[in-house]
Amino acid sequence: MTAHPLTALQPASAAPPATSDLLSDVIAGLSSDPRALPCKYFYDERGAALFQKICELPEYYVTRTELDILSRHHAEIASQIGPNVELIGLGTGAGTKTRILIKALEKPAAYIPVDISEKQLRKSTAFFQKIFPKLEILPVCADYLQPVVLPSPRHKPARNVVYFPGSTIGNFEPNEALEFLRRIANVSGRGGGLLIGVDLQKDQNVIEAAYNDKDGVTAQFNLNLLEHINRETGANFDLSRWQHRAIYNSKAGRIEMYLISATDQTVRIQDQQFHFRAGEKILTERSYKHTPEGFIALAGQAGFDFAKFWTDDARLFGVFYFVIAT
Ligand code: AVI
Repeated sequence: MTAHPLTALQPASAAPPATSDLLSDVIAGLSSDPRALPCKYFYDERGAALFQKICELPEYYVTRTELDILSRHHAEIASQIGPNVELIGLGTGAGTKTRILIKALEKPAAYIPVDISEKQLRKSTAFFQKIFPKLEILPVCADYLQPVVLPSPRHKPARNVVYFPGSTIGNFEPNEALEFLRRIANVSGRGGGLLIGVDLQKDQNVIEAAYNDKDGVTAQFNLNLLEHINRETGANFDLSRWQHRAIYNSKAGRIEMYLISATDQTVRIQDQQFHFRAGEKILTERSYKHTPEGFIALAGQAGFDFAKFWTDDARLFGVFYFVIAT
């Protein structure tokens, strides 16, 4: 067993953190200027279900496009990765994309899904074991943003390949993304690889529509953060007094999600009071959109050599394969 330090700073979809962490994070975030709340607190049970719904929205091109790219290029992706690999899946969820990938791989040595949700992990492991009965599956229930101990497969693999789909890397600040990629490079090791899905820079209107869907699912997802905080801390956010808005910051190359106070109001969180003016914003999420060149340079700084890039016709999304020299 080897301990791989997969620690990062700003989790995008991490473990349900202790209430004390949540309370201190919320108080720190609302005391800062500008006010912000950490996006990791989106993912309580309802938040995770709402995110699933987001992935199916017509405006949210991200999931659909990544799936299309994998479906179209699976043979080429598999041949880049090569035979007999140990595939380590980070945040692969229900495994729709991973299923396509594993099906295309030549004699994978083992699949190690790392997921914080035990329920999700059990479900996807049972499903994968059924469709790939000969594959050794070694599920690890852990927060991949923390140090993780990975099991050793029965058969010695040719190399380790980390799979990190969904453009979750976009929810990291660039310095945090670099730090996290460096930690992935440790897991991949010499001769290893990284297959990663990354959302690309594009027309601002396409991005803003994806985060301001007309059915208001993303708005519910954003507002649910306040409900989660109320439940965990006894705070009294009145959800009817907050509005969702996502704005593209073209200079920074990221979408910014906000909760905007509809009125002047005071919110109590334990023994603290926070005053908000009408129109005042709380930043709840940043989602970076990269250029292919920019992302290749970032991964390069982390020790990865660029091998290949696949995209869709409209260049909305990119699937990148990187390797580490032997
Ligand atoms: C998880 N992550 C990649 C999503 C994104 O697009 O940044 C989270 C999300 N927030 C609103 N819609 C989707």
